[in-house]
Amino acid sequence: MAFPTETVYGLGADALDEAAVRRVFKTKGRPSNNPLIVHVSGPAMARRVVAEWPRDAQLLADCFWPGPLSIILPKASGVPSVVTADGPNVAVRCPDHPLTLALLRALDGPLVGPSANPSGRISPTTAAHVRESFTPAQVYVLDGGPCTGGIESTVVKLGDEIRVLRAGLITPEAIARVLNRPVLTGSPLTATPESPGQLASHYAPLTPTRLIPASDLSRALHNSTRAAVLSTTDLHVQPPHTLFRMPTDPHAYARELYSALRQADTSGADRIIVISPAPHGASPEDASLWSAIVDRLTRASTPPTQ
Ligand code: TXA
Ligand code: MG
Repeated sequence: MAFPTETVYGLGADALDEAAVRRVFKTKGRPSNNPLIVHVSGPAMARRVVAEWPRDAQLLADCFWPGPLSIILPKASGVPSVVTADGPNVAVRCPDHPLTLALLRALDGPLVGPSANPSGRISPTTAAHVRESFTPAQVYVLDGGPCTGGIESTVVKLGDEIRVLRAGLITPEAIARVLNRPVLTGSPLTATPESPGQLASHYAPLTPTRLIPASDLSRALHNSTRAAVLSTTDLHVQPPHTLFRMPTDPHAYARELYSALRQADTSGADRIIVISPAPHGASPEDASLWSAIVDRLTRASTPPTQ
């Protein structure tokens, strides 16, 4: 079953039912070494799946839950190891969507919820997106309308050091303010990333996608018979190429990003060209939001040599 959240739709199953969780991996075609986020109705349910609930976790939950923040902590023994890909830690998050919160409370139990897309592809931000990827027999979709956040939750690991493993709408600055501690970003391990979702190619359209500065546009168009161009500014793009105007506000850009990429992907374009949204003079908070967006765009784009 797919459920709505404020970020993207999730592919849900009882987190404590090993066979159900295995079906989620199978339906998505997800490698078994990539752990799943466990969705909870709040801190009380989170405590049932973690081995410890430190003060930092409570502070973050007080401030950001329900909301787009997944917190990684040592797992409780009752959580099947398939959920955490045999690892010692589990990611927990309380999604900010009334339907899914009601579902979690009614079930009175946690749900795994990877994004409801085939592994490696673009995350769904509407029920229709989920239905494009899976048949009704495979996945029942609980339609909660379009997602308001648009990109996946921030993943933060707590411990002796605090590290953001996946950038999102909750910024490292906001986490550091709440915990009054330094927050590191980026995985120290590049060969075996702590969040396998952080592997280079992810969130990808089928159409070859490039992320380029505006100054490279005419050269890129020259190499294309029909390009779909995503840009926050009104660049001069003539038919048969098409321009997808993107919002200049980072929250609005994030909300529309995956829909725009999906539209561009099915528009018949031979390539998607994304003009790097690198606004000058953004506040540190906005700059972090833009870098979460650029992180997704970088993973959606294929290297020029391919
Ligand atoms: O916003 C979201 O987080 C959405 C909605 C549905 O809640 N879910 C989502 O799940 O994006 P998924 O599976 O597509 O991405 C989860 C990310 C992956 O990069 C995974 O590697 C990482 O979180 N992750 C999950 N559990 C982890 C763990 N125990 N340790 C390290 N990384 C973990
Ligand atoms: Mg995903």
